[in-house]
Amino acid sequence: MEDFYHLDSVKNIILVASAKGGVGKSTTAINIATGLNQLNHNIGILDADIYGPSIPKMLGIKEKPKISEDKRFIPIEKYNMKTMSIGFLVDQNTPVIWRGPMIIKALKQMLSGVVWEGVDTLVIDLPPGTGDVQLTLCQKLKISGVVVVSTPQELALIDAIKGINMFKKLNIPIIGIIENMSYFINKSGEEIDLFGKGSVEKSAKKNSINFLGEIPIDKMISKNGDNGVPFLIKNNETEAGKKILEIASFIDKKIK
Ligand SMILES: Nc1ncnc2c1ncn2[C@@H]1O[C@H](COP(=O)(O)OP(=O)(O)OP(=O)(O)O)[C@@H](O)[C@H]1O
Ligand SMILES: [Mg+2]
Repeated sequence: MEDFYHLDSVKNIILVASAKGGVGKSTTAINIATGLNQLNHNIGILDADIYGPSIPKMLGIKEKPKISEDKRFIPIEKYNMKTMSIGFLVDQNTPVIWRGPMIIKALKQMLSGVVWEGVDTLVIDLPPGTGDVQLTLCQKLKISGVVVVSTPQELALIDAIKGINMFKKLNIPIIGIIENMSYFINKSGEEIDLFGKGSVEKSAKKNSINFLGEIPIDKMISKNGDNGVPFLIKNNETEAGKKILEIASFIDKKIK
């Protein structure tokens, strides 16, 4: 495929998707990126959620990107990862009220109009849904694979499978599916099943997709997101941290 966006140094492009909103795509994208960075990938994170960018808040970035001599945005570097989001250019409380074609224009700008040189693995945090953004990225970029995030509830799972079927139709390799917010560990160390742990794995088997693992509910995952620090920066030894690292290391092997 023609490298439409001149991402010359980028060897791997990983999409993080789920057709359903709020299941933890952005959180998981950042933590997988951090895990891959710990495995020596030069990471770029592209926030492809134009209407609801989460990356600036989740990485604690308030500054605007500088412009290079050849008039491209210089991605902002934080936690040893380069990142670009429409949220760097628009005030946090200002909604982006654009029609589809404008969204796609902005998306293209964030690919070809950004100095991604030096990045070898680009992790793209997708918006919810199976729309224009997903379609454009899949048709215009050489995607290494997609990681699908679901929670155990049937409502989320139905949408996740819908998303997977879209990627299959577009011939995008499915790296696998993650069960996020799978269970909760209480103070006595007991595992509490809140939403139906195991349903994602079952569905993965049924649909012949790799199951990448379960990530428990952890207050610190949410807190770190709110505070602008990737959970994995400090929590590698926790149960959730170990699970995320295992997933990152599976992805690392898969794309090599
Ligand atoms: N494993 C987890 N444990 C605790 N909180 C979590 C976990 N995963 C995600 N969250 C929290 O759930 C909320 C939703 O997560 P996030 O924004 O990553 O979802 P999303 O799928 O990207 O949403 P959207 O569809 O709006 O883009 C956030 O507040 C996040 O901190
Ligand atoms: Mg998101």
